Amino acid sequence: MAGSPLTWLITGASSGLGESLALKALGAGFNVIGTTRDVSKAQTACPDFEDKGGIWLGLDPGKKDAYEKFAKCCQEHDVDVLVNNAGYAFIGGVEDTSESDIRDQMEVNFYGPLRTVQACLPVMRAKGSGHIILISSGSGFIARPGQATYSASKFAIEAIHESLSYEVKPLGVKVLIVEPGAFRTPFSRRILTPAGLENGFSDGYKGTPVEQTMTRSLHLTSIPDWVKGDPDKAAQAIINATVEGYDYLRLLLGKDCVVALESKISELQRDLDATRPIATATDVD
Ligand SMILES: NC(=O)c1ccc[n+]([C@@H]2O[C@H](COP(=O)([O-])OP(=O)(O)OC[C@H]3O[C@@H](n4cnc5c(N)ncnc54)[C@H](OP(=O)(O)O)[C@@H]3O)[C@@H](O)[C@H]2O)c1
Repeated sequence: MAGSPLTWLITGASSGLGESLALKALGAGFNVIGTTRDVSKAQTACPDFEDKGGIWLGLDPGKKDAYEKFAKCCQEHDVDVLVNNAGYAFIGGVEDTSESDIRDQMEVNFYGPLRTVQACLPVMRAKGSGHIILISSGSGFIARPGQATYSASKFAIEAIHESLSYEVKPLGVKVLIVEPGAFRTPFSRRILTPAGLENGFSDGYKGTPVEQTMTRSLHLTSIPDWVKGDPDKAAQAIINATVEGYDYLRLLLGKDCVVALESKISELQRDLDATRPIATATDVD
C-alpha cells in the first residue's frame, strides 16, 4: 500500500478497544474516522479524539441505513483500513433467549460489519489495496454455555471475513480477524440478558453451567481481576500488524485466548480421531 498517511475507519470508536485504536492510529500519524451512535456523547467522553484530528461520523451500524452512510464516507475519505469493532454481548441460555434478542444481536455484530464491508469494498477494489479488520473474539471460535447468541454472531461474521479473505486477496485487499480474550474495557457493563428473568436464567437451569455464566457476567460493578487484557497494547498490536504486514488470517490477543484456542484445537482433534473410521467409511464403494 503506497502513500501515507492511510485513512482508517473504525466503528464504535467512543470507548474501549475502538477508542484505544483510534487514538493510537492518530498518534501514529494516520487519518481516522470514528463512528459512534451519539456524537455529542463521544465528544464529551473522548475529547482527545478530535483534538488529535479525528473525525466523528454519527451512525448506528446495527441500523439498515448505515450502509449508505458508510458508502458515502468511504468515497469521500478514500478509506484504506476498515476496522469493524462496534459490538456488544447478549448472554443467556438458549432456551431463555427470545428470537428478537438474537435478531438484535445479529443486527449489530453480524449485519453491522457486513454493511461496512460491502460499503468499503468498491473503494478498496478501485485502488487495488486496503485492509478489512474484524474485531471478533475468542467467542468467534468457542461457544461456551450461556454465550450461544454472542458466539453465533461472532462465528457468523468470522465466516464472512474468512471467505472474503480468499475473494479479495487477488484484488490486493487483505483481511484480518482479531480474536481478543477478556480486555479491560466497559464491554461487560453493556452486556444484555434475557428480559424478565431476575438472575438472567429460568429455574430449570439452576445448578447448571448457565447459572454459573450468568452469575459471573451479571451485576458487575467493576472489571474483575481475571480480566487481564490491556486495550492499549491490543491497539498497538493491531497497528503493528497493519504497518509491518501479516501472513496469517487470525490474530489472537491475550494469554486467555491462546489457552482457549489450544483447548478448542484439542477438542477438534479428539473428535476427528474418534470419528475418522466412521467418516472414511461413508464414501461410495
Ligand atoms: N472487552 C472484551 O473483553 C472483548 C473481548 C473480546 C471481544 N471484544 C470485542 O471488541 C469489540 C469492542 O468492544 P469493547 O471491549 O471495546 O467494548 P465497549 O467499550 O463497550 O465498546 C463497544 C463499542 O461498540 C459500540 N456499541 C456497543 N453496543 C452497541 C449497540 N447495541 N449498537 C451499536 N453499537 C454498539 C459502542 O459505540 P457507540 O456507543 O459509540 O455507538 C462502543 O464504542 C466488540 O466487538 C467486542 O465484541 C471485546
